[in-house]
Amino acid sequence: MATTLISGGTVVTATGRSAADVLVDGEKIAAVLAPGSTLLGQDLARSVDTVLDAAGKYVIPGGIDAHTHMQMPFGGTEASDTFETGTRAAAWGGTTTIVDFAIQRYGERVMDGLAAWHEKAAGECAIDYGFHQIIGDVNDDSLKAMNSLLDEGVSSYKLFMAYPGVFYSDDAQIYKAMRVGAETGLMTMMHAENGPAIDAMVAELLAQGKTDPYYHGVARAWQMEEEATHRAIMLANLTGAPLYVVHVSAKQAVEQLAAARDNGQNVFGETCPQYLYLSLEDQLGAEGFEGAKWVCSTPLRSKHEHHQDHMWQSLRTNDIQMVATDHCPFCMKGQKDLGVGDFSKIPNGIGSVEHRMDLMYQGVVDGKISLERWVEITSTTPARMFGMYGTKGVIAPGADADVVIYDPNGHTSIGLEKTHHMNMDYSAWEGYEIEGHVDTVMSRGKVVVNNNEYLGSKGHGQYVRRSTSQYLV
Ligand code: URP
Ligand code: ZN
Ligand code: ZN
Repeated sequence: MATTLISGGTVVTATGRSAADVLVDGEKIAAVLAPGSTLLGQDLARSVDTVLDAAGKYVIPGGIDAHTHMQMPFGGTEASDTFETGTRAAAWGGTTTIVDFAIQRYGERVMDGLAAWHEKAAGECAIDYGFHQIIGDVNDDSLKAMNSLLDEGVSSYKLFMAYPGVFYSDDAQIYKAMRVGAETGLMTMMHAENGPAIDAMVAELLAQGKTDPYYHGVARAWQMEEEATHRAIMLANLTGAPLYVVHVSAKQAVEQLAAARDNGQNVFGETCPQYLYLSLEDQLGAEGFEGAKWVCSTPLRSKHEHHQDHMWQSLRTNDIQMVATDHCPFCMKGQKDLGVGDFSKIPNGIGSVEHRMDLMYQGVVDGKISLERWVEITSTTPARMFGMYGTKGVIAPGADADVVIYDPNGHTSIGLEKTHHMNMDYSAWEGYEIEGHVDTVMSRGKVVVNNNEYLGSKGHGQYVRRSTSQYLV
């Protein structure tokens, strides 16, 4: 088995940083050693197959993006990244594991949905991947099937309080599913927006001739998110189900989560880079149809209400536990443009899987989070939250050798012509400048990106079987 020494770097974990060498043996981390350590009197650097020089750089566990939608059928089209293109882009950006969403649609069986997603991903991925299960039709059969998800390595499922007629569950269905969640230990993931009320408001706006992408954000008001978040928390409280609210964007929703956590409930929140950097006015409100590039749900929030600053603060205080992308890319041409003249027909989603590690590192540079917190919210907590910790999310002996060498003196210019590997005809992050750079990415011991060169291969990525959350109190 090939051995690699990552030498001279600063190993950063969720709990600290230290000068250390990392010895990789095959697919695993074999040892974390004092710099320049010897083995049986021998200079380690001379006895391994490869030495990666990490002097002046950070050595961190590979990123884990726990919320992606590769080739998801949605909004009358399909997310434009396949498992092949999306995981390759993820690797470019220092992410070495994704957790994507298998889907049970209305009228379908849960295990058929899961099998279909295995088929889409198997042999296609550049990095490791796991699945959450979307339950789009809560009924006796799917409730029973939920009991078998853990045996399949799926320890979390997602419900939608939004999208009536598509994935929507009503309160009785949510209650029943959460009862199973509580019994099995499955994490309930919730899309918390009041879908029926949103649809009523969408109809009103369209009838008034308000058809631009901006009105997507108006219709999906923060009250819709706060109310649904509160309702989900109460149903979780009643049933005892652990709850993880996805793509949180409103500060009022964060306040609901924080209050529930203060109350001792196992309630967690995820935000995404778009809710930290982008706004209703600057992006959704862009000239003409441009705003469609940033139509996603929950929507971008008003900068005048300071949701973005509050979200950064929530990351510091652990009121929000982690950052995923909700990567769900669509091209402008032929996809987003389905909604010209009617914002409600714009497919919902933004593509960011490639840029999450960089965008969050910029938060370190800007003094918004610490270096250790960067690692925690992008890798360690996702691993613990979704039952992968020990194998993933940490630099320690026995863990998978998913390692990123990150250069704090490097630079990354994000843009379609510059650094873009996602299958999209635009970048939602065009023009963003990052004061750092992903130099080297190792996935289970294999270098997949090095010095701006892609060395990975389709099919290297393996399915990750997950256990129940290691984050519960
Ligand atoms: O706009 C979004 N978030 N698209 C993906 C589907 C979802 O709700 O996560
Ligand atoms: Zn969602
Ligand atoms: Zn999503």
